Amino acid sequence: MKTYIVKDYDEMSKKAASILAAQIVADPESVLGLATGSTPVGTYRYLRKWHEEGVLDFSGICTMNLDEYRGISKENSQSYYHFMVENLFSHVNIKRENTYIPDGTRKDSGAVCREYEDLIQRKGGIDLQLLGIGRNGHIGFNEPSDCFTEKSHCVSLARSTMEANKRFFEKAEDVPKEAYTMGIGTIMSAEKILLLVCGSDKAEAMYQTICGPITPEVPATVLRLHKNVIMIADEAAMSKVKSE
Ligand code: F6R
Repeated sequence: MKTYIVKDYDEMSKKAASILAAQIVADPESVLGLATGSTPVGTYRYLRKWHEEGVLDFSGICTMNLDEYRGISKENSQSYYHFMVENLFSHVNIKRENTYIPDGTRKDSGAVCREYEDLIQRKGGIDLQLLGIGRNGHIGFNEPSDCFTEKSHCVSLARSTMEANKRFFEKAEDVPKEAYTMGIGTIMSAEKILLLVCGSDKAEAMYQTICGPITPEVPATVLRLHKNVIMIADEAAMSKVKSE
């Protein structure tokens, strides 16, 4: 794992955006695996800016998002689809038909997840997968478990994840309890992985990811087995690793 330790969120975002930009320039038909949440917002801001400045062309890019809440429509302002439109898609020249996110309104989980896996295969796999990390070490919505999941599937969100996500919803009861997510195997089959970690609330997850045993109890630990991971973490997230 190639690790960059940066000062703060902005430095992390700029470096992450420059890695994504390099991928887009090197292969204008790249398949990018994208993430939502607070972590990549600044990264998407830089990508938008560089597109506006004429540096980045998204016209040949295809995106596959990691996950989506189950039971929530695209139009819902809390859907990950809506997040992607607001933070990236509506600001760049990506073709909307080349942006893929599991359909949260579909109830037939088996078919949704199978079709998503098939789609990733048909697109030739993910060239660069962007990841954040949960406080409990989850990646995508692969929560701590007793085995690593292979493919895209439907998950019940951990209580701690629902707790962390409730800041985005008006009422705690509105927080979805299930989501569709790429599996650990799907994520691990990406050619390259870019993991972003920011803030002291991720320090324990970071410590476990780097120094702990590789275990599905801390899903991000599996990334140590991937041959091409770049991690960008700020000093606060690394505080526990550095103090050991
Ligand atoms: C989002 C995702 C999640 C988040 C993680 C961190 O698509 O898959 O794994 O990356 O929950 O969320 P933030 O960035 O909000 O701390």
